[in-house]
Amino acid sequence: MQYTWKEIEQHVESCTHCPLSRTRHQPVMGRGSHQADIMLIAEAPGGQEDQQGLPFVGPSGKILDSLLGDCGLDREEIYITNILKCHPPGNREPRVEEKEACFPYLKYETFLLTPKIIVCLGRVAAQRIISPDFKITRQHGTWTYRKNCALTATYHPSAILRDSSKYEIAKRDFLEIVAKRTELNL
Ligand code: URA
Repeated sequence: MQYTWKEIEQHVESCTHCPLSRTRHQPVMGRGSHQADIMLIAEAPGGQEDQQGLPFVGPSGKILDSLLGDCGLDREEIYITNILKCHPPGNREPRVEEKEACFPYLKYETFLLTPKIIVCLGRVAAQRIISPDFKITRQHGTWTYRKNCALTATYHPSAILRDSSKYEIAKRDFLEIVAKRTELNL
């Protein structure tokens, strides 16, 4: 079964498939261009995202915008989403059952978008999307190819907030992502 963007959003809005639906203020659907070649997948909405119902509007969103800007990208031309659509209280790591309950929404988004490049932001996304044993410190910036799509991962903006030396590393990864877009003639 494949849904339209509107239908996916409606399902996310009314979802009660896991207990996070009882603690969230607002679910956070992905945002950006529905024609984007590049899809960013992060972990889960933070506190400000939970209040506003939008991805990356808090402090890590500022880091993300800065990284994108440094590499000549902006949010309007990409699509940004999360593994979980609801905020885990206290920003704790998503539980396996939450990730599995939410995964169909990410599948529907990916199916509709058909991105040519998927960028996982952080370990949680990389381990769910690329490989369960993905090591972000060693494997960030490496590429995997799957069905007409190039996949990579870099540091989550909140990891950069904790350790600013990761900014330049993530920036180099994003510059490679832009180069990959050129290489793929996108
Ligand atoms: N952190 C995430 O992983 N996603 C957001 O949308 C915001 C912060």
